[in-house]
Amino acid sequence: MRIAVVGLGHIGLPLAVQYASRGHDVLGVDVDRRIVDTLNAGETPHRDEQTLIDRVPELVATGRLRATDWSDPAGFGEADVVVVIVPVVVDADRQIDFKPIDAATRDIAANLGPNTLVVYETTLPVGTTRTRFGPMLTEGSGRTLDADLFLAFSPERVLVGRVFQDLERYPKIVGGTSDESTRRAVEFYRAALPEGAEVRAVASAEAAEMTKLAETTYRDVNIAYANELARFAARNGIDVTEVIDAANSQPYSHIHQPGVGVGGHCIPVYPHFLFNDDPELRIPPLAREINEGMGAFTVDTIEDRIGSLDGQNVLVLGVAYRGDVREDAFSSAFRLRDELLAAGAHVYGHDPYYDGEHLRSVGFEPYDLDDPSPIRVAVLQAAHDRYRTMSPAAIPQLVLFVDGRNAIDRTAYDEAGIAYVGIGR
Ligand SMILES: NC(=O)c1ccc[n+]([C@@H]2O[C@H](COP(=O)([O-])OP(=O)(O)OC[C@H]3O[C@@H](n4cnc5c(N)ncnc54)[C@H](O)[C@@H]3O)[C@@H](O)[C@H]2O)c1
Repeated sequence: MRIAVVGLGHIGLPLAVQYASRGHDVLGVDVDRRIVDTLNAGETPHRDEQTLIDRVPELVATGRLRATDWSDPAGFGEADVVVVIVPVVVDADRQIDFKPIDAATRDIAANLGPNTLVVYETTLPVGTTRTRFGPMLTEGSGRTLDADLFLAFSPERVLVGRVFQDLERYPKIVGGTSDESTRRAVEFYRAALPEGAEVRAVASAEAAEMTKLAETTYRDVNIAYANELARFAARNGIDVTEVIDAANSQPYSHIHQPGVGVGGHCIPVYPHFLFNDDPELRIPPLAREINEGMGAFTVDTIEDRIGSLDGQNVLVLGVAYRGDVREDAFSSAFRLRDELLAAGAHVYGHDPYYDGEHLRSVGFEPYDLDDPSPIRVAVLQAAHDRYRTMSPAAIPQLVLFVDGRNAIDRTAYDEAGIAYVGIGR
């Protein structure tokens, strides 16, 4: 098959490499000239997967894989299948911005050959494939759905850094805008994914779109429940981590962990794709509200222990959205920062993955653990490995350590006479 992958990002490039590794001819298209040139020079523009580093040189050298931008889409019109993995971005208020993927869709339509299957993999609000991209593709190409153009959605469920392993083990969910589109998309993935990977058809593109929103929103709702349990436990002097661990020994209980907030590209974002336009949904927006409220809960917890934060130095440990990643998209560090500032605190930030300039640009006074200044309260926001082994003596004059991820062994803090409090602990 000739396959075009539109968007050679952290997910798109591994997909292109996977398809080329199965023997198909793959053309990657990206608006970023650096990505295109680097790939065509036989190097991987992304180094977050060892498989990319290992396979790209040979696939490019043998001509199985090449890249271009829209200024020279030669070969695109011969593609049997086009896979679209260009992000849909959201603003700070989680309003959806389709501009990048709309632009990609217009270029796809303008260059589309006959009888092509177009599959969107980018996470989308339900109905987007059929009602937004369907007309853009048919009007822009002059082709007719289910006659000489086929259209499907298949959510990408892999995680960056382990894409190739996830492609082997997660079933590939596929739903077309017609039975024939579904059939063609299933056939495509059987031939392009690792041999033996399960490909599972669902009834429609909408069911496939909703599947991804269902699984990500499930995690947000589950965490919100864990956060409610944590607040209940805190009111009743119980350690919620012990309770969750005990509850989950029953096989039907899968309670997630509470924490100072939920961040990243997916979990705090995709619930909005589900409920922004549907006021009938009640649990997902409430879960969002609960999870967004954990920064304020953390500040209340601190003030219960030490009184007003007005004028106090508070250190946020970890600005990334979770431990040991260099990614701070929608990080709950920012909500925590705002709550601490509103309480009058001087807010310092530390993160081994970011330099002082970046920390300052996202509203934190950079803190140097090698040349530390006095701090009254430290809050673990991202459980980077470095913080697990950090001595309490590393932070002078510390009186309270808040373990926002319930990730730290408290013994060292107890021994150092520094108060320790977790979330619901
Ligand atoms: N990153 C993840 O962990 C993850 C996991 C599962 C699913 N996804 C899905 O994959 C999507 C893409 O994620 P990513 O991490 O690969 O994003 P990314 O930002 O790494 O890559 C997106 C690429 O698209 C390119 N692009 C933008 N506009 C374009 C256009 N008009 N034509 C061609 N290329 C264009 C960009 O230059 C960039 O290289 C996400 O929006 C999400 O729906 C991501």
